[in-house]
Amino acid sequence: MTEKEIVETSEAEIAVHWQEEDYYHPSPQFIAQANMTDPSIYQRFSLDNFPNCFKEYADMLDWYEYWHTMLDTSDAPCWKWFVGGKINASYNCIDRHLAKNKNKTAIHFVPEPIEEKYEHITYQDLFVRVNEFAALLRDFCGLKAGDRVTLHMPMVPELPITMLACARLGVIHSQVFGGFSGTACADRIIDSGSHVLITMDAYYRSGSLIDHKKNADVAVEHAAKAGQKVDKVLVWQRYPGKNSSPTTMVEGRDYFVNGVLKDFYGARVEPVPMPAEAPLFLMYTSGTTGKPKGCQHSTGGYLAYVAGTSKYVQDIHPEDVYWCMADIGWITGHSYIVYGPLAICASSVIYEGVPTFPDAGRPWRIAQDLDVNIFHTAPTAIRALRKIGPDEPAKYNYHFKHMTTVGEPIEPEVWKWYHKEVGKGEAIIVDTWWQTETGGFLCSTLPALTPMKPGSAGPGMPGIHPIIFDEDGNILPQGAGKAGNICIQNPWPGAFQTIWGDRNRFVTNYYARYCKNPDSKDWRDWPYLTGDAAVEAKDGYYRILGRIDDVINVSGHRLGTKEIESAALVVPEVAEAAVVPVAHEIKGREPDLYIALKPGFSASDALAKKISDAICNEIGKIAKPRKVWIVRDMPKTRSGKIMRRVLGAISNRKDVGDVTTLANPDVVEEIQQMVK
Ligand code: WT7
Repeated sequence: MTEKEIVETSEAEIAVHWQEEDYYHPSPQFIAQANMTDPSIYQRFSLDNFPNCFKEYADMLDWYEYWHTMLDTSDAPCWKWFVGGKINASYNCIDRHLAKNKNKTAIHFVPEPIEEKYEHITYQDLFVRVNEFAALLRDFCGLKAGDRVTLHMPMVPELPITMLACARLGVIHSQVFGGFSGTACADRIIDSGSHVLITMDAYYRSGSLIDHKKNADVAVEHAAKAGQKVDKVLVWQRYPGKNSSPTTMVEGRDYFVNGVLKDFYGARVEPVPMPAEAPLFLMYTSGTTGKPKGCQHSTGGYLAYVAGTSKYVQDIHPEDVYWCMADIGWITGHSYIVYGPLAICASSVIYEGVPTFPDAGRPWRIAQDLDVNIFHTAPTAIRALRKIGPDEPAKYNYHFKHMTTVGEPIEPEVWKWYHKEVGKGEAIIVDTWWQTETGGFLCSTLPALTPMKPGSAGPGMPGIHPIIFDEDGNILPQGAGKAGNICIQNPWPGAFQTIWGDRNRFVTNYYARYCKNPDSKDWRDWPYLTGDAAVEAKDGYYRILGRIDDVINVSGHRLGTKEIESAALVVPEVAEAAVVPVAHEIKGREPDLYIALKPGFSASDALAKKISDAICNEIGKIAKPRKVWIVRDMPKTRSGKIMRRVLGAISNRKDVGDVTTLANPDVVEEIQQMVK
């Protein structure tokens, strides 16, 4: 495929073309209380002061041994931050808060069933539960620093407890989004080399108690086929002491945590001082080629970056109640439900279920009940709540001072509804642009310092210096009015360290594109390629258009088109599969799936369903195609490549352009008729 074709099939191409919007300014009341009101912060974090500016974030943490080298570039582009430092993430998120705040709520848990009461876990409770579980991991499972453990858990307090218990021991956790299938979980067990899987028997979703244990059985079985043996499966119980899953426990392999934990009551585990650059966790994400990438995040650099950004961008104060309505199974939850907020001693809300259960007023009732004043969510949720309950927020007595939107571009119309209705015209909004790979925010306004502009993420964060290149590597200047590939010029502490077990892929995918000299040890030669298209306005604000690679952002989450296509090819009748993004009112994008069958098979609704089911089974419901179009043949170039650009145009009811040079132009017309 030529470069041009890649760009044309991307989401950027189907992105909405917005007008310049007016600024919105924070209220004097907001500014008066904000954590960061000093405009010189941009100067302090300028490129001239790089990398030493990040000392400010490192100093928000407690170190066993203070680091000696801010940034080590000797293994470029695998940057090392705070070298020589020893630190423990669990200690920083729990122990150090006890002296002054042991009675403070660390986690407010909101179960989905309305008849179940909120649970308020204090920092002291968290300390006890994390210690006991860490003792179990160490003494019952034999886990030690550097080992990997796969977690496949829903949105329950046991998830951060498990993560923090791992962190206490230096064990690298790899949490797989609870909605992913057992097979998707297996791929991550295999890639990370985990011998222990931690799961939960069941959880609530849209009013039903879902059997989750069964996914563990599938995961372990698949992993075993690939030669990765899981020795122990730890099963938390949604209702301690009671089994909520009909799936049987495998003798000698599966253990109910609540049973084993009895042996560890009262146990205390000294946090293990870890080198700053020791991996804290893996988070798998989709990329341009099929296999998910295990983004490896560090302990010291990552924690410093999420603590600093939680304080300055999320503006969390000790008395605030902070609710990030994301799933901890994604990076947003790791950075801005668990590590960032807990590192700065916040009260963080965890909600088990779906925002619209049992109705679209649910989030606002939770906000009212807990007196939440900082709210964080994604455009997909905002669109859904706007669609089904536009008047709901006004019915409840809550007041947000601060709100976040994250995960995909937000349409200015939706932004304005969020501001006016959800924020009651009082709350400031930060539109934070970042990625699984980047650990924390790349672009955002600083809430008390830089005004908001609907649809724009804003300027680079302090210490983050974006740059936009065109295809030939020329810099697109401010106000050029043209989209290009947005990169970051400099390293920063939150950035992932590598792709687990695949340094080459790390360098090729993220640093090779605009690297001036592959032998260079100077960070200036290694711009980080985000894979997004963006335009920079005259005022230095960045508007993100979407992905430039073959990744579809569904409800704010990246799905590899190749992953979905490979899942479809599991069905024996399928010869070829092509996935394209279609604009969707709520989800932002949805995958549309085109299928060509092997000779001798014919299209039917049953077959289409079988293919769709295979995808849900292989990846999870999040990847379910909007529609499976079984076509006679794929539109192809003369060299035999599937023209996804043409399929994308058809699905989005756009002009397919010139197709006369295709090998089979007649099929285009046929598919158009079908999709109409
Ligand atoms: C991709 C990263 C960021 C954590 C959740 C998703 C898109 C993210 C924004 C935003 C426009 C955004 C980008 C990015 N994206 N935030 N505020 N405005 N687009 O993490 O799954 O790694 O996806 O999400 O395309 O590259 P992820």
